[in-house]
Parts: sequence; structure tokens; C-alpha cells
Amino acid sequence: MKRIGLLTSGGDCQALNATMRGVVKGLSHNIKDLEIYGFEEGYKGLIYGNYRLLTSADFSGILTKGGTIIGSSRQPFKLMRVPDANGLDKVEAMKQNYYKLRLDCLVILGGNGTQKTANMLREEGLNIIHLPKTIDNDIYGTDLTFGYQSAIDIATTAIDQIHTTASSHGRVFIVEVMGHKVGWLTLSAGVASGADIILLPEIPYDVKKVCAAIDKRHKGGKKFTILAVAEGAIPKEIAKLDKKEQKKEMEKISSKYPSISYKLADDITKKTGYEVRVTVPGHVQRGGSPDPFDRVLSTKLGAYAAQCIIKEEYGIMVATVNNQIKKVDLSKSAGKLKMVDPEDQTVLLAKSIGISFGD
Ligand code: F6P
Repeated sequence: MKRIGLLTSGGDCQALNATMRGVVKGLSHNIKDLEIYGFEEGYKGLIYGNYRLLTSADFSGILTKGGTIIGSSRQPFKLMRVPDANGLDKVEAMKQNYYKLRLDCLVILGGNGTQKTANMLREEGLNIIHLPKTIDNDIYGTDLTFGYQSAIDIATTAIDQIHTTASSHGRVFIVEVMGHKVGWLTLSAGVASGADIILLPEIPYDVKKVCAAIDKRHKGGKKFTILAVAEGAIPKEIAKLDKKEQKKEMEKISSKYPSISYKLADDITKKTGYEVRVTVPGHVQRGGSPDPFDRVLSTKLGAYAAQCIIKEEYGIMVATVNNQIKKVDLSKSAGKLKMVDPEDQTVLLAKSIGISFGD
């Protein structure tokens, strides 16, 4: 007999259902008596005791279904130790609900913030398995997160579409790709779509260098330029400041522009006179069906998690390391970000074929 809790927390992505399906199929195929409790809207459900008893049937037919059948919400880690408006101790409440249901384990699907809370619950004595979800691919300790490849497909398609219209009109186009802190998605989608300039949070840009790259193309006879710009791209003069000053400067920008891309567009037009358009695919990047790669990855991660549950191996994240699914200690991964190294091979090889990173 096993009693399992499932929750999906933070920003959603395409392969949450596919991953939960892998877990439940892996368990129901091997264990006779199984109870699955789905906590609704992530940690909120665990805190307030909102859950549903689910059956294997609930996980049938959801491999291709985007979103999450149990809902998700953002519950910031930094507020977990802060009592709610009614004075409820959230951590204690989560533990009580876990014990009340006599769970063997809680399977938590989420990104960095979610993982920090998962690790805290592990420290509090709960049996935890974390499954790495995010289109940002920024979880330390795993080469891949599920959702990432599906989002690359969408962002790449968005930039491909822009390519044709940019070329007809001879315009400069900025496509803003999701990722406030890290640029994996922008890097991959940028290279995959043949973007001319790729700007990442990890490589602060010099607007003069960006304009020079556009000019060079135009002087070389190209009439259009495509920029793939991460949400968290940062001008180099701001990146140099200390964190507090940086925040102030970025706030000034966001009081004037919807996002950094619009400020960059303005700067480019002022400096070069070129007409610039901005496209923001936004949450489209997290929507719809998982792509085949993510379906396979999620199935493997989920099935491996089921094996860990059967063997009672807890306190882990199920990760991809050198193309193998492995367990990684949650304590070794939680609280760290996997960022793009400016010397990453993809960056260097992209530069070697003439893609500018604005640095
Ligand atoms: O972490 C995933 C992510 O999609 C980021 O790429 C993006 O910056 C953020 O979430 C958007 O968050 P929200 O859905 O809360 O607006």
C-alpha cells in the first residue's frame, strides 16, 4: 500500500500532466494498493488541505494535454515562514495535512522556488521527490527540465514567423523570449531560428555594439535584422551597478516601457534611424501540448520517480545527467541557479558564425 501526494507549483509548462502520468502509471503498474492525492493549485492546496483523491483513470489520456489537471499557483518561498492573513503557520499546516493523510511521499513538480520549499519540507522530515519543471531550464543539477524543449519549439516558431515579415519589410525586429534570470530558452530559440543578435541576462549588452551589428548587416546588403532578446536582458552600464542601484535603474525603465525590449527598440531607433518592431510571444511559450521530446523526457522522469517511491528513496530530485535519468540530492540542488556561462560552447560557436551577443 502506498499513499502519494502530488502537487504542481509555480508557472506551468507543457509537460506537467505527462510527468504525473509517468509517476502514476509507474506506480499502478507495480503496486496493487495505491492512493493518490492531488493537492489543488500547488502548495496552496497542501497548506489549506484542498485535495482530491485521484485514480489511475485520471492520468489516462493526458500525455498530450498542456497545463496541469491539479492546477498551480505561485507561493513564494520567502513567504512560506510568514504566517498567512489569519495567522496560520503555513509550514506546520503543510506538515499536518501530510501526516493527516498518512502519505508515504509527496511528489512535487516545479521550478527553483518550488524546489526551495520542497527542500525545506524535506528538512522538516517529509519524504519528498522533486521533478524539475520549467521552460527556463535553470535548475541546478539537471541538464534538462521538462517544458524547456516544448518552449524552444514555440519561441523558435515565433521567430521563424517574424523572419518572413521582417524580410518583406526590411525592418529590425525584436522577439522577446521568456526568462528573467537566465537565457537558455533565448539562446536555443535564437540559434534555432537564425537570429542575428541574441541578448541574454548573463551577457550584459552594449547598445552601441548592438547597433554596430545591425549596421554591419545592413551595409553587407541585408535589409532586416532579427534580435532574440531575453526578458531579463540587461544593458551593461546597469549590470555594472550594485544590486540596489540596478533595481532602481530597471524600475525607471519599467515605468517608461512595457519591457526591456521596448527600451532597446527605442535606443536602436534613436541611434540608427531604423524602424524597429517588438513582438512578445509571452505565455504562449508555456501553452499547448508538450512536444515529443518532452513527452519522452517526462515519461522517463515520472517512471523513474515511481521506482524511487517503490524503493523508498526520498529527499531527491529526479534529474537528467549526461543523458541518463538519475537521482540527485535535493539539498545539493536547491537554492542554486543554472545559468548560461558566457563561455558556453553554444555561445562561442554562435559567435564564431557571426551571431552578436551585444558584448
Ligand atoms: O519561470 C517560468 C516563467 O515562464 C519565466 O520564463 C517567466 O519570466 C515567468 O515564468 C513568468 O511568470 P508569470 O507566469 O508569473 O507571469
